[in-house]
Amino acid sequence: MKRILFVCLGNICRSPLAAGVVKAYGYKKNISDLIYCDSAGTAGYHVGAPPDHRSIQIANNHGIELIHRGRKFSKADFTNFDYIIAMDRTNYEDMLTLANSSAEKSKLLEFRAFDPEGPGDVPDPYYGSLADFEMVYQLCERNAAPLIKFILNEPI
Ligand code: 4NP
Repeated sequence: MKRILFVCLGNICRSPLAAGVVKAYGYKKNISDLIYCDSAGTAGYHVGAPPDHRSIQIANNHGIELIHRGRKFSKADFTNFDYIIAMDRTNYEDMLTLANSSAEKSKLLEFRAFDPEGPGDVPDPYYGSLADFEMVYQLCERNAAPLIKFILNEPI
């Protein structure tokens, strides 16, 4: 079982959606017992809050139910997770400053590191439209397979 934590800024838009999409991918591919997915934010603005209604709506449109409460990323997550996946470069750098060892640093990855269309940020849709949330969903869907393939180190 690999424990995977998806991390964005507020933990209400991108990272809960990414965790939901990758979890759903696990069920679809019959590998749900091999991965555990959770999410957190580098900021504490929305601790205890449900995901943004637009993330919930876009997930629902694609048959995925998002159940989560916002929480802030903490140093303990470096111990509790095998992989910590930053949704953008700023999230990555913010967590890098909290890592205490090279082993902890090596758990950090950027979500789009294996994107067939090239690396980059998952753009923050918070001040955007529903179409921006749909774009985040599409990025999550496109990146689920290469990310899980890397994490499980086998073709699936
Ligand atoms: P997220 O989006 O990092 O994808 O959850 C944001 C949510 C809230 C805020 C910023 C980004 N905020 O400033 O409250």
